Amino acid sequence: MTQTQISAAGGKATSIPMMGGGPEPTIFELSAPGRRCGSLRENGVPMVDPASVIDSAYLREEPLALPEVSERDLVAHFTRLTHRQYSVDLGSYPLGSCTMKYNPKLADTVAGLAGIANTHPLAPVSAIQGWLEVICTVEEYLLEMTGMDAATFAPAAGAQGELTGLLIMRAYHRHRGNHKTKVLIPDSAHGTNPASVTLSGYEAVTVPSNARGLVDVEALRGLVDGEVAGIMLTNPNTVGLFEEDIAEIAAAIHEVDGLLYYDGANLNAIVGVARPGDMGFDIVHSNLHKTFATPHGGGGPGSGPVAVVERLAQFLPGPYPVRAEKGFDLIQPERSIGRVHSHFGNAVVFARALSFMLALGGDGLALMSRVAVLNANYLKALIAEHYPPAYEATCMHEFVATASNLKKASGVRALDVAKALLDRGFHAPTVYFPLIVDEALMIEPTETESRQTLDALAAALIEIAGIAQDGEGAERLHEAPELTPASRVDEARAARHLVTTWDARD
Ligand SMILES: Cc1ncc(COP(=O)(O)O)c(C=O)c1O
Repeated sequence: MTQTQISAAGGKATSIPMMGGGPEPTIFELSAPGRRCGSLRENGVPMVDPASVIDSAYLREEPLALPEVSERDLVAHFTRLTHRQYSVDLGSYPLGSCTMKYNPKLADTVAGLAGIANTHPLAPVSAIQGWLEVICTVEEYLLEMTGMDAATFAPAAGAQGELTGLLIMRAYHRHRGNHKTKVLIPDSAHGTNPASVTLSGYEAVTVPSNARGLVDVEALRGLVDGEVAGIMLTNPNTVGLFEEDIAEIAAAIHEVDGLLYYDGANLNAIVGVARPGDMGFDIVHSNLHKTFATPHGGGGPGSGPVAVVERLAQFLPGPYPVRAEKGFDLIQPERSIGRVHSHFGNAVVFARALSFMLALGGDGLALMSRVAVLNANYLKALIAEHYPPAYEATCMHEFVATASNLKKASGVRALDVAKALLDRGFHAPTVYFPLIVDEALMIEPTETESRQTLDALAAALIEIAGIAQDGEGAERLHEAPELTPASRVDEARAARHLVTTWDARD
């Protein structure tokens, strides 16, 4: 169904789909010359001629080709788009490794407070004492949770935190005159790990997993030599299992003066229960935007603070805030690797995280982790008959199941299952990661989902497995989703021919 827009300022009439109609045009396609968003009457205030204040060398010759739309059309366009999206506010989002959990609205309220939202990052230290207290307090809580001694909040997200941590590792070895060339990474690691290692100038060396989905300690021993700068580990690892041999691994790496890097993108399973510092780790990054109340996945800025043990604090990016005798001050660490972000980082995320930590308190945060683990194990058990877990052990906050049997029996793959879930009102889990599991479905329900939601998600997954059993049903699953605004897209083509810009001259 379409409606024809009545153009108040002339221009072409544009066909606009109503809810549920065809594809939504871009805002540029809705544009008509002369149409304006505001309708303020002439008020006698003279317009400033740009040429009178800006050097002509910097002035555009042609006006910028911005879309010209009415306020009504602007609001309707973006509102229609929001109705076509799935989000954490709509329902379960069991995307493994991503911790897409519901973020309490309290965090939005805090982030919107005038003192938080309206502070200029270049304001003098004396004028931002409150903000510095926010940063120092959230740092103290994070250090307590991770068992570390000092932290930087500058990195904008997890991957940048990894790079920052590895640059700290490199600075440490250079300072000690160590000749190091490689960093070990388990084969189940997140893709950003080897990318960060390569960017930091080291060679990434893969450590195989054993049949239980854990680091193969014997294989690790064979790889450890004097050139190993360190190891990057995710614990719980990306198949959702706790690395039981962590003390042994830490000893082997420390023996060659290597450092242990903890990829704590996802702290959801361990807050208040276990600490990377107590496991022997030296550097930890954590994603505030996963564990602590900031929406992500295209939803907002992230924050990937990096916490380190005492002997590495001298290499942290600076300047960073510390508690002083009176109030708060900035310090520059002695052998700092330099800046990795402008100002203090994505500050609003710190305020959101602090509000979440304060609202839950220590006991509440520990309960968060316990419920996240309970929910994952409950869901794993509900679907095990149809989607067997890749590894039998009790999982942490997430688990990896496989659709391998389903594929053999019916030709229906993990991708088809994921797409069919969209038609049933759920976001898809992560699929085909980690690479070591065939037809992987990586599921992380998070602590924010109720038992009813988990039952409904399991029922949907089981229903899909049932439909796959007859040939016609399997055919339909290959075509899923049927009920979403966009049907099955050619993902290989979409990845290879990314079109992310609009050329106004077309
Ligand atoms: C285990 C792990 N490490 C690192 C990252 C990278 O974090 P970011 O997406 O914030 O850069 C992720 C993100 O999904 C992750 O799951």
